[in-house]
Amino acid sequence: MTSTSKKGFDLRPVEKLIDSPKILARVAELGGQITRDYHGKDLVMVGVLKGCMVFMADLIRHINLPLEVEFLSAASYTRGTTPNETLEVAGPRPIALKGRHVLVVEGIVETGRTAREIVKQLHAEEPASVEIVTLLDKPGAHRTGTSVRYTGFSIGNEFVVGYGLDNTQKYRNLPFIARVIDVR
Ligand code: IMP
Ligand code: MG
Repeated sequence: MTSTSKKGFDLRPVEKLIDSPKILARVAELGGQITRDYHGKDLVMVGVLKGCMVFMADLIRHINLPLEVEFLSAASYTRGTTPNETLEVAGPRPIALKGRHVLVVEGIVETGRTAREIVKQLHAEEPASVEIVTLLDKPGAHRTGTSVRYTGFSIGNEFVVGYGLDNTQKYRNLPFIARVIDVR
């Protein structure tokens, strides 16, 4: 168990699930695969904030192509670990996507609702293709037919934090993936 508690902060302890070297090795593999698949294509990576940030920063440095990056934000969890019914997708995206190959970068896919809504909205801009890469996937929680093209790791139906993922906006800076231990 790794405690992240600091004086003056109310953080619950976490338990490491996927360590940093393992994440980085897998991210490098994904980068290689994407490099091969998108060779000769006009690639725009669209990150879903905020959960994508650490993953995307590492991933793009393993893709040896002249890609561009763009961001949008999606909020489906407003607080805690319980899903909120409303999903907001926002973000001014000055990069035109028409006729280009779009790869959506997510930190984690759970029900797939966020990914489905984003893919739907991006299709309206008439890109050549839209695919999804996610660091983590919870296949047991899928509630939509959204297909994820690239997955770093499949995990069970548990709430995880770190490497960009939060619990009430905290823990994004953990360099590893961890489960939060529910001590109240
Ligand atoms: P979905 O729309 O159900 O696929 O939920 C995806 C979004 O929920 C992600 O982009 C995260 O913001 C959040 N989420 C789902 N599971 C987790 C988790 O285990 N840890 C942190 N955030 C999560
Ligand atoms: Mg979140």
